[in-house]
Amino acid sequence: MHINENYRNLKESYLFSNIAKKVSEYSAAHPQAKLIRMGIGDVTLPLPKATVDAMVEAAREMGKRETFRGYGPEQGYGFLKESIAAYYARRGVMLDEHEIFVSDGAKSDLGNILDLFTEENVALIPDPVYPAYVDTNIMAGRRVLYMEANEGNGFLPLPDYAVDADIIYLCSPNNPTGAVYGKAALSAWVEYAHAKSAVIFFDAAYEAFIADPSLPRSIYEIPGAKSCAVEFCSFSKIAGFTGTRCGYTVVPKGIMNGELNRMWLHRQTTKFNGVPYIVQRGAAAALTEEGFGQCMANISYYKENARIMAEALESLSIWFTGGKNSPYIWLRCPNGSKSWDFFDTLLKEANVVGTPGAGFGNNGEGYFRLTAFGNREATVEAMERIKELLG
Ligand code: MLT
Repeated sequence: MHINENYRNLKESYLFSNIAKKVSEYSAAHPQAKLIRMGIGDVTLPLPKATVDAMVEAAREMGKRETFRGYGPEQGYGFLKESIAAYYARRGVMLDEHEIFVSDGAKSDLGNILDLFTEENVALIPDPVYPAYVDTNIMAGRRVLYMEANEGNGFLPLPDYAVDADIIYLCSPNNPTGAVYGKAALSAWVEYAHAKSAVIFFDAAYEAFIADPSLPRSIYEIPGAKSCAVEFCSFSKIAGFTGTRCGYTVVPKGIMNGELNRMWLHRQTTKFNGVPYIVQRGAAAALTEEGFGQCMANISYYKENARIMAEALESLSIWFTGGKNSPYIWLRCPNGSKSWDFFDTLLKEANVVGTPGAGFGNNGEGYFRLTAFGNREATVEAMERIKELLG
């Protein structure tokens, strides 16, 4: 047998596994330390009540002969696809139900969609960015070009026509920087994608955190995007589904006269058996008026955490961005520290866990990400500890 040697080109382990390992080693050596975790962007509030009620009801249905269900449609039940289409329609974006594919999350789909593209394609990926984009391309042996995201461009790079790329990754609101593209900038990317016959992978996992109504929450708010962009979204950060698992991908029929949509359907029906009925009922409930209100109440709670974090950093005169339209705060490491050094200092001296910016790419060196997904008491306590350490 011959293994996929591209795996040898990956870093030793995935960023968040690496952090988890370091933290568990530290914890084992210092069992008395009261660690506060602001590293991986994992939610802490329980699921919205409407979602729980819907899942309990769905579980009951599964326990009765008359309402039991076996395999569902691989691309998702009609009731959830209709709810997702209505969610977009409320923002003026009209989607055909057959363009929506329900899955177990955006991360899986972002990796799986690469099945549809040969390894000759060149991927254009912002630096810094969510590490799964880069690693999934390295696994396939694809060439990756980076676009510089930095303080100078507000961590929102624009197209450079001198660069030829086939697959363009955009994440807005951005993980890790919290920066959000405006309509003009996204239009520039759509224009570039058309000029280069490229496809855009638009990761909208954090769209519900956008507070400013002038900022686009979907790339399909941009004219021309339906013939060049695939959008990935998830219930993880919106409805607290990180452990429940449900997301969706929109593959418009406008791309290559519907061929990409047909290929994705073929791929999903061949390699995927769908998301559990119970989970899909929970996801649909999160998009009802009642459920979405509960989701937004949770998001407001996290945003208040972000405000508390921002206030603490301001009091320390530490430069940062994000937090207003995103659950992430991206800060410049104090005293010119390197990201991993600051990670160690914060872990050892304040027992606070964050994510080193360097883990998101070379341009992340010297920066650090904190998440606002913690509980209130822990967030306040972490900021007190940071102020004591750095003040
Ligand atoms: C993060 O911390 O960047 C996210 O939780 C990762 C993810 O959504 O998979």
